[in-house]
Amino acid sequence: MTPDDLKQLVRTVPDFPAPGILFRDITTLIGHGAGFAASVEHLAERAAAARAESVAGMEARGFIFGAAVAARLGIGFVPVRKPGKLPVATLGIDYALEYGSDRLEIDPSAISSGERVVIVDDLIATGGTALAAAELLRQAGAQVDHALFVIDLPDLAGAQRLRDAGVTVDALMEFA
Ligand code: PRP
Ligand code: ADE
Repeated sequence: MTPDDLKQLVRTVPDFPAPGILFRDITTLIGHGAGFAASVEHLAERAAAARAESVAGMEARGFIFGAAVAARLGIGFVPVRKPGKLPVATLGIDYALEYGSDRLEIDPSAISSGERVVIVDDLIATGGTALAAAELLRQAGAQVDHALFVIDLPDLAGAQRLRDAGVTVDALMEFA
């Protein structure tokens, strides 16, 4: 299935989680076996081209695609978690969302110095989540040059923010 085919499988829900937000819902994409497999395959091809040594994914939707891409390539997966979930001393960072704010944490011992870590998430909107993840992974010693998304919302300019931070951005589809 092509990225254009996959776009047809994403459901749009108006006014969730707040009035005025058009929520681009991947539930329908991952519920379609061939669609989910093709999404992972397209992302894995791009991660391999970026010579990923491991994949980092952001809780929760980034785990769905990131872990699958890592397993597909036979490389490790680094969970970038919401606060208070990891049982060890963490590195953490606060960040702003399209709707609200949150915090991300990682286990710094999950990263080797200079390791090429590719970020994978379902969607980039303002880029706050991905920028925070990139900064956190870099603080832990990772080389973060690439981030991959299923969906880019270009009107929110997150991909440009990430590029300004030296990260190459690729997405399977855009909703403008
Ligand atoms: C969503 C999405 C991205 C982020 C994108 O996650 O999965 O991680 O928002 O928004 P941004 O580019 O403006 O930062 P959310 O925080 O809603 O959490 P979830 O994965 O647990 O649903
Ligand atoms: N995360 C941030 N903005 C979003 C949107 N518009 N749809 C789905 N997930 C999102």
